[in-house]
Amino acid sequence: MGLLDELTKETGVLPESITSLTTEEMENRVREIKRQLGKKLFIPGHHYQKDEVIQFADAVGDSLQLAQISAQNKEAEFIVFCGVHFMAETADILTDENQVVILPDMRAGCSMADMADIYQTEKAWVKLTERFGDTIIPLTYVNSTAAIKSFVGKNGGATVTSSNAHKMVEWALGQKERILFLPDQHLGRNTAADLGVSLSEMAVWDPIRNELIHDGDLDGVKVILWKGHCSVHENFTEKNIEEIRKNHPDMKIIVHPECRREVVEKSDFNGSTKYIIETIDQSAPGSSWAIGTEMNLVKRLINQHPDKTIVSLNPYMCPCLTMNRIDLPHLVWSLEKIMEGEPENIITVDEDTARNAIFALERMLARA
Ligand code: 13P
Ligand code: SF4
Repeated sequence: MGLLDELTKETGVLPESITSLTTEEMENRVREIKRQLGKKLFIPGHHYQKDEVIQFADAVGDSLQLAQISAQNKEAEFIVFCGVHFMAETADILTDENQVVILPDMRAGCSMADMADIYQTEKAWVKLTERFGDTIIPLTYVNSTAAIKSFVGKNGGATVTSSNAHKMVEWALGQKERILFLPDQHLGRNTAADLGVSLSEMAVWDPIRNELIHDGDLDGVKVILWKGHCSVHENFTEKNIEEIRKNHPDMKIIVHPECRREVVEKSDFNGSTKYIIETIDQSAPGSSWAIGTEMNLVKRLINQHPDKTIVSLNPYMCPCLTMNRIDLPHLVWSLEKIMEGEPENIITVDEDTARNAIFALERMLARA
């Protein structure tokens, strides 16, 4: 591979052969390549992806559904994952060795997943097990690196997604006295609180200071929350809720549990991406909704439900920037590279990491 190709890969900059195409040409190219590759190609797409990409997805879902679908697909040779890096890693772990998983733009990461690395996690584990002994089970949101999933699997824990977090936290609390929940403090706090764990029984692990933050009796701690968050969902505030209540008293507020506790507590409903979609789908014509989740999805729901009034809970909200890295030009480029016999941006989780990560994923999939 030449220097220009390397730089292109690093920066996500595309060659002129792609950037010079019109939208119509790109769309026709995707259709044609899909037709030629048939079942050899599979394109899963997360609900937060742009419409220009989602229109070509063979399956659209939340992170749990896409993990399940990837695990079931045995016939695709190429899985071009329209989502973010941790989702593509999960797909690689769950698919067979002869199946190639491709992420159209390597810059499609997740700021939350970046808030916990394996070195911090191992350091935290040493300190926490020194203090609490063998009483902790680790759980990690799928929004985490394969290395963290592997660490969790090795230590008897499991992955969770927003749509099975209640089930998995309940399961984990039945296994050990306390949970270490990575990397999203908000999903961990909201889920544990719904299950009756009081805020005084939750502590926060600060990975930067490498210390546990807690006011009360440490022996009473049941849930240790990693101090990470989603930079998209943190943008919904109590003030946004007050404004909706004041200006649109009939509007129902529904938010994702990656939002802060105060926001979740003050809204009418909270739940995973799938739950939000189903709630809006099943709501009565004429109903009005303020939604606290990613903007590509909110815009899609607005378009799909012209008979309902739907707004973003935060009127200045933007889409998830990393999800947005996967656009039509990057999709076309990935597919062209497959057709040239030189697939790029292949996501490979090494065997050692995958071996334990699969335990964590399978413990979740068995209960999903
Ligand atoms: P879901 O588990 O709801 O698909 O969420 C994934 C995600 O990245 C939310 O920010
Ligand atoms: Fe990550 Fe948040 Fe984007 Fe989801 S919305 S991919 S958690 S940054």
